[in-house]
Amino acid sequence: MFNSYIKNIKYHVPPGVLTNDDLSKFMDTSDEWISTRTGIKKRHTVGDSGQGPADLAVNAAKKIFDEGQTQLEDIDFVVFATSTPDRFVPGAGSMFQDKLGLNKVGVLDIRQGCSGFVYALSVADQFIKSGQYKNILVVGSEVQTSQLDFDDQGRGTAVLFGDGAAVALLSRQEDIKKGILSFHLHSDGKYIDELGTFAPSSTTKDIIDNNMIKNRKHHIHMNGREVFKHAVKRFPEVIKECLSYNDLDVSDIDLVVPHQANYRITKSVQEQLNIDKNKVFSNIHKYGNTTAASIGIALSEAIEDKKVNDGDLIMLASFGAGWYWASLLMRW
Ligand code: ACO
Repeated sequence: MFNSYIKNIKYHVPPGVLTNDDLSKFMDTSDEWISTRTGIKKRHTVGDSGQGPADLAVNAAKKIFDEGQTQLEDIDFVVFATSTPDRFVPGAGSMFQDKLGLNKVGVLDIRQGCSGFVYALSVADQFIKSGQYKNILVVGSEVQTSQLDFDDQGRGTAVLFGDGAAVALLSRQEDIKKGILSFHLHSDGKYIDELGTFAPSSTTKDIIDNNMIKNRKHHIHMNGREVFKHAVKRFPEVIKECLSYNDLDVSDIDLVVPHQANYRITKSVQEQLNIDKNKVFSNIHKYGNTTAASIGIALSEAIEDKKVNDGDLIMLASFGAGWYWASLLMRW
């Protein structure tokens, strides 16, 4: 019997920074509006560097290999989560593999939006538990800023998102009491129109037309209120599902690392579950919502901040476009 555990995790954000004040120069918004409603103060952007999620992920992955404990040849498989792939076809995974210089190992692309990292971990966990693979790179990487509508029409959505990447090295171990203990995955396609990017689309001849561009369908669209309403319900629900499955109480959890969507959502989850606020990690003020990368970046920073100790119970939880939502429990 094997278990999987996070042997290492690193993140990378591009050097470009957009503060709330910067945004207020090209759309009708303010630091006060953005901060009070979301907790976000700034976000990172690739700007016009031409970089995509594969590049950001390569920078994060290199930090793992630079430490020298794991070599590129040790990697058996890659699971790459992004909702903003470098190209419409193929997914970003093979581009990442090539740019990083990995051997011809298998690569799986997944598109579960804000729940991408948890879904990716759960897939990798199963490959390791089954004995198929020993070392898998689990990637969450996102370049959101190139699809945002940075003007008054798009301001309700554009202020929320940022770019970044996280890469976890998920490895095999024999101590089954440590590592990933369980996960719970959900989706509900009824709400697909509430959050997403509608163009390009294979349902349209030539995949995009002038009408789509005129109506800004190539920018991400969101019904913020609807997202909020469902997020504050689904996060606590899926965390409770995990606690009940493992016969645990919320007080047993040492750290919750939720998807960083909005500080008001995180605070509502913390209050509903009556968790000590020091046990719920938040770094949304620095990065905004980096979608599939957000949980990985947050977990990496929690480790850097010494908030994760040997033997701790760590809960990851996510909700986003799809809707896809999920929780995952691990013993560190
Ligand atoms: N700056 C200034 N004013 C703005 C902005 C802006 N950036 N955006 C919208 N407004 C205006 C609106 O036009 C509206 O004006 P009006 O009253 O004159 O019509 C007013 O502010 C209120 O707009 P609402 O959309 O009703 O604002 P709300 O209080 O609902 O806050 C927000 C919007 C922050 C998006 C909120 O709905 C939210 O947090 N939703 C969750 C969204 C989220 O987290 N999405 C992330 C992706 S999914 C995920 O990760 C879970």
